[in-house]
Amino acid sequence: MSNNPTIILGIESSCDDTSAAIISDGVLLSNVTAGQAVHTKYGGVVPELASRAHQSNIVPVIDAAIKDAGIDKKDISAVAFTQGPGLLGSLLVGVSFAKGFALANNIPLISVNHMQGHILAHFIRKKDEEKKLPEFPFICLTVSGGHTQIVKVNDYFDMEIIGETIDDAAGEAFDKIAKIMGLPYPGGPLIDKLAKEGNPKAFDFPKPKVGEFEFSFSGLKTSILYFLRKELQKNPDFINQNKADLAASVQHTIVEILVEKVMHAAQKFNINQIAIAGGVSANSGLREALTKEVHNRQLELFIPPFEYCTDNAAMIAITGYFKYKKGEFCSQSVTPNARMKF
Ligand code: KG4
Ligand code: ZN
Repeated sequence: MSNNPTIILGIESSCDDTSAAIISDGVLLSNVTAGQAVHTKYGGVVPELASRAHQSNIVPVIDAAIKDAGIDKKDISAVAFTQGPGLLGSLLVGVSFAKGFALANNIPLISVNHMQGHILAHFIRKKDEEKKLPEFPFICLTVSGGHTQIVKVNDYFDMEIIGETIDDAAGEAFDKIAKIMGLPYPGGPLIDKLAKEGNPKAFDFPKPKVGEFEFSFSGLKTSILYFLRKELQKNPDFINQNKADLAASVQHTIVEILVEKVMHAAQKFNINQIAIAGGVSANSGLREALTKEVHNRQLELFIPPFEYCTDNAAMIAITGYFKYKKGEFCSQSVTPNARMKF
């Protein structure tokens, strides 16, 4: 038996962040992410531009992750990459790089589902970091720009989707409503910031009537669009004068919808541990509301640190590490899967 550590290089390129991370025996050594400012002026991610930016960023990002970790590329035991879901052209860059890297270094390849990665981000540990990890089974609210799901996590790779959105994702709702308010992309973090100065009860927006564990956000977006059109006719400066109150009210509505369903799921499945994952789990309103709810109900809440909420390769590397331990590798003929399911 060799005493060499198991070192995983993780690569994430599913949307508009190019990221690489190194995990050694389950401990995070580095996590480097290059965002893509190129989309801001278009008000959303332009897939063609995203793939091109990944193409220019991928080598420097991987090089930086290896250097930051203080390892040599020859020490890497396997390369894990995001296979999907995501934008096909973006995924192709990471998948192709991972294949080439595995081939050149004669190491195994591990495919990772991006959404499983978001959930398993809860298991990322840094050196000497003591942290309580969620125990199986737990309920995870996975909220990103592309997904809104309530997942029952029975084990690392045994996850059941209990319910999901029937139209827009929560992050998409934040971004689209922000766009209607004239804010740049991605609007979610900006709404969060503005909301801190506003009154969450200033405006009352309708909540959807959908199935027990379903979400819907497109009606909310439309009702805000019509509301603002009406107000702007009376006062062309309405948005500007009410920015913070609008942001706080929008955030309050989205957060209430999310919290209500996740609490219901915990109760129905009799599970006392709740986790959140995905970009929207960075939202301070959501974090506060959930913290209050779990306290009232004596449940336990797991919130990932900010850097592991939005897209990152550390979550891909940790998922790859768990797959490595199970001996779950993929072949060189693997292809990206834009609509990959669990
Ligand atoms: O997980 P992620 O980085 O990428 C996807 O897989 O989609 O999530 C990005 C989404 C965007 O919609 C962004 O606006 C939202 O997460 N987001 C936030 C916040 N930070 C990121 N939404 C609300 N409040 C935030 N603080
Ligand atoms: Zn994501």
